[in-house]
Amino acid sequence: MGHIQITPSILNADFARLGEEVARIGSADWVHVDVMDNHFVPNLTFGPAMVEALARSTDVPLDAHLMIEDADREAIAYVEAGCGSVTFHVEAAKAPVRLAREIRAAGARASMALKPATPVDPFEDLLPELDMLLIMTVEPGFGGQKFLDLCLPKIRRARELMSRHGLETWLQVDGGVSLETIERCAEAGADVFVAGSAVYSADDPDRMVAELRATAAAATSV
Ligand code: DX5
Ligand code: ZN
Repeated sequence: MGHIQITPSILNADFARLGEEVARIGSADWVHVDVMDNHFVPNLTFGPAMVEALARSTDVPLDAHLMIEDADREAIAYVEAGCGSVTFHVEAAKAPVRLAREIRAAGARASMALKPATPVDPFEDLLPELDMLLIMTVEPGFGGQKFLDLCLPKIRRARELMSRHGLETWLQVDGGVSLETIERCAEAGADVFVAGSAVYSADDPDRMVAELRATAAAATSV
């Protein structure tokens, strides 16, 4: 397992003041940017131009989570927009191996996401192609949903498969992650934690980032 990283999602931040909102989480490892196309999920957010402007406004690297149908064709635009990590959904990608290789070749970390009902086992052989695997712990589309405990065995299973192959692939969880649920995720083997509403509903978002980090670290040090 890698070191603990906290990647706040700006989905529940104030979209009219995104630059300032990102400045409130200076100690974050990455800014998690939820790209939605109103087809793969019933919600619409940012496109490459917006993401590029955001990348220019902060020194924290961007972690794009593409909840879009045409990931095969559109993902590279987010690398070019300045994202250091680009995640596509395996349920959307027509050629996930080719896409992961293209993302890496374009200079970003390649990552693949699984919705709650998508098992990890069929993708065991793909793991070496990935820098990170994202296991969704809510149905993608909206912030502020309740954490799905039923995803915990899949996190454990994914970490097992990675260890078996000697991989140090990052394992990210996204959805309903809070001070209350982060320990369970960390114990199961996750090391990269997205938190949207937990961070942006806090009075001091950067302090929440530190608390989440400490709570996850405590859960893995036992
Ligand atoms: C949901 C997004 C998440 C979301 C998380 O589809 O992928 O990144 O912003 O928000 P919380 O932490 O509130 O569940
Ligand atoms: Zn996300």
